[in-house]
Amino acid sequence: MAKLTPEIVEYTVKLREKLQEAGYAYYVLDNPVIEDAVYDLLLRELQDLETKYPQLIVPDSPTQRVGEKPATKFVSVKHNIPLYSLENAFNIEELKIWQERCKSKNSKVKIQKYDPSESKKLEVESKNSTFKSENYELSEGQKLKVKIQNNDSKNELDSDEIDLATLDYVCELKIDGSALALTYENGLLVRGATRGDGIIGENITQNVKTINTIPLRLKIDNPPPIVEVRGEAFLSISVFENINAEREKNGETLFANPRNAAAGTLRQLDSKIVAQRRLDFFAYTLHFLTENNSEISQFSTQWECLNLLQNLGFKVNHKRQLCSSLDEVTTYVQYWDKERKNLPYLTDGIVVKINSLPLQKKLGFTQKFPRWAIALKYPAEEIPTIVQSVTFQVGRTGALTPVAELKPVQLAGTTVQRASLHNCDRLSELDLHIGDTVIVRKAGEIIPEVVRVLPELRPTTATKFQMPIHCPECSEPVVKPRDEAVTRCINISCPAILRGSLVHWASRGALDINGLGEKLVQQLVNSGLVKSVADLYNLTVKDLTTLERMGEKSASKLVEAIATSRSQPWQRVLYGLGIRHVGSVNAELLSQKFRSVAELSKAKASDIEAVYGIGSETAQSVEQWFEVPANQSLVGRLETAGVRMEVGDYTSNVVKVQGGLLTGKIFVLTGTLPSLKRDEAKSLIENAGGKVTSSVSSKTDFIVVGEDAGSKLEKAEKLGVKQLNEEELLEMLEE
Ligand code: IVH
Repeated sequence: MAKLTPEIVEYTVKLREKLQEAGYAYYVLDNPVIEDAVYDLLLRELQDLETKYPQLIVPDSPTQRVGEKPATKFVSVKHNIPLYSLENAFNIEELKIWQERCKSKNSKVKIQKYDPSESKKLEVESKNSTFKSENYELSEGQKLKVKIQNNDSKNELDSDEIDLATLDYVCELKIDGSALALTYENGLLVRGATRGDGIIGENITQNVKTINTIPLRLKIDNPPPIVEVRGEAFLSISVFENINAEREKNGETLFANPRNAAAGTLRQLDSKIVAQRRLDFFAYTLHFLTENNSEISQFSTQWECLNLLQNLGFKVNHKRQLCSSLDEVTTYVQYWDKERKNLPYLTDGIVVKINSLPLQKKLGFTQKFPRWAIALKYPAEEIPTIVQSVTFQVGRTGALTPVAELKPVQLAGTTVQRASLHNCDRLSELDLHIGDTVIVRKAGEIIPEVVRVLPELRPTTATKFQMPIHCPECSEPVVKPRDEAVTRCINISCPAILRGSLVHWASRGALDINGLGEKLVQQLVNSGLVKSVADLYNLTVKDLTTLERMGEKSASKLVEAIATSRSQPWQRVLYGLGIRHVGSVNAELLSQKFRSVAELSKAKASDIEAVYGIGSETAQSVEQWFEVPANQSLVGRLETAGVRMEVGDYTSNVVKVQGGLLTGKIFVLTGTLPSLKRDEAKSLIENAGGKVTSSVSSKTDFIVVGEDAGSKLEKAEKLGVKQLNEEELLEMLEE
């Protein structure tokens, strides 16, 4: 090890301080004090010194933010203080109800009526008595002390002070991101965790350290033993758009919105990737604790906490406001409803909190929410724009999905140029004309939807939209079965169908070919190297290296992954064939009865329908699929290529995705989900490594809740089990 001198130590300390100050000024204060290039140079110098003298590394050195070795999984941690969620209000009326509830809970007496402008009389009610005042006149800031005569005991009860006129509220923007719990011990960041179920989260400290707006050490002399800070990690809209643009270029699936992107990034196992993603953080809650986790009451208002958080080195949202009446809160809510579109990050509402911490303490919590705070949610944004044309996307099944190409508009923070029209029937229902003004809405999806047409604004030049009679990809005629909403291309050589089939064949639940994503599939089809799924098995390293950006190493890896896929179990191959109505669950059921492709291809629809769980539509679809000569030839070619199309010994224990995202997680399903059948949801969870059990216990990690959920949900609520709806489950599986 190189020899360390006092001069080097002193220089390193100075260098580190300089970098810390500059980083704080740049990221938190948004007010750079040195040039970017100088910062980079000094950081490099510090890195070099720390590499040479590892004994100089300290946990709060700026060099500790760049990310570490990838983790294999995250460890669960119990939060020192639970993270609660917020009750939602959707309009000012609901906010008033919440306020009344706070007031009545706040005093031991319940205020029945108080209208200073009219009656000037105050009616209050306590548990056993009613009290009517004589002409009380309250002015702002005035407090009222009421003595109540208890009817039964005749004892005088001292009511609390009714702080009617001075109930202060702190209004904060509700940042649309992912909650984080940070723990500082003796001023040093020791842990960053996700919210999880509010009681137990995941330890993602390495990832949290990469967020430049989170101090690694608190700016405070004599810090309390433990400081707990909560806040929202988020991605600014521009960073989110850059990430998605990059993903699109690489053929990766896009994040639906900045919230999903932030949540997905925080749970990235490789913190180096997290460091590149430029997450940001706004702090909103502060607790000082003793070594034994008991709260030290140091401050008296939420407003004070926010200011203190700022002094401790955190970025605290400047748009906060202290309001002394609900009217002021309303003005704030209305102002931000209009102005939020100009913010560089997304906000989905306003959080209103009772300012006084002693009052907060008194109001306490319900099972899920603090009683002293509420989120006023803004409705999904809708905006008018003009339809310039309608294009069609052709999916794996040949279904044509109409998409409205729009005059670009700003909506919920992003530029929107396309909106889904769902299917051809919906298109006719809307009576859409090219040139029409339509209302588009964005509720979290990447592609927003057309909500309605405004025919009153239709220009005379508008042309009625005509359904295509030819496939936009292969120009062959399309068909529309009378009883279906969908128009389809039925040309099995259609490049769009081929691309979709290949992506499906390579997907995780099917043949699971690592590295074969959308982008590469497109290259393979465009180059003509692959004209059918079976062609994958003839690809050589030499073929692949002719493709753009494909080196020999990646090519060999892919050839190997394709070769390995030959021995996937029969039910996965069956699922991979992409027969309509044969999802992974039906494939599993069919593979148990029909032990090989030879057996299944000879089966009549009536034999197939006899399989428990298989309906007539599926049975007919399977029979018809095997009648098509092109499909018979595909099966023949796959068999020749060595793809196993029969049950082997290995299928006795179904291959599950190893190390899936949900490994070890226990799920319970309850109620009817909007689109997934119960078996399908079960199989999706199991394929990702999770387990589905029938009853809720303390071991249950998640309950997936559909319509008409019953007692399981009640039990889960009692145990504080994290609830998911279908959409959230699918998001989780996608991640
Ligand atoms: S306060 C007990 N303040 O909204 C305190 N939450 O829908 C509860 N959120 O889980 C949180 N901005 O992740 C609070 N200024 C803010 C917030 C905020 C965003 C998130 C937070 C919470 C969720 C509830």
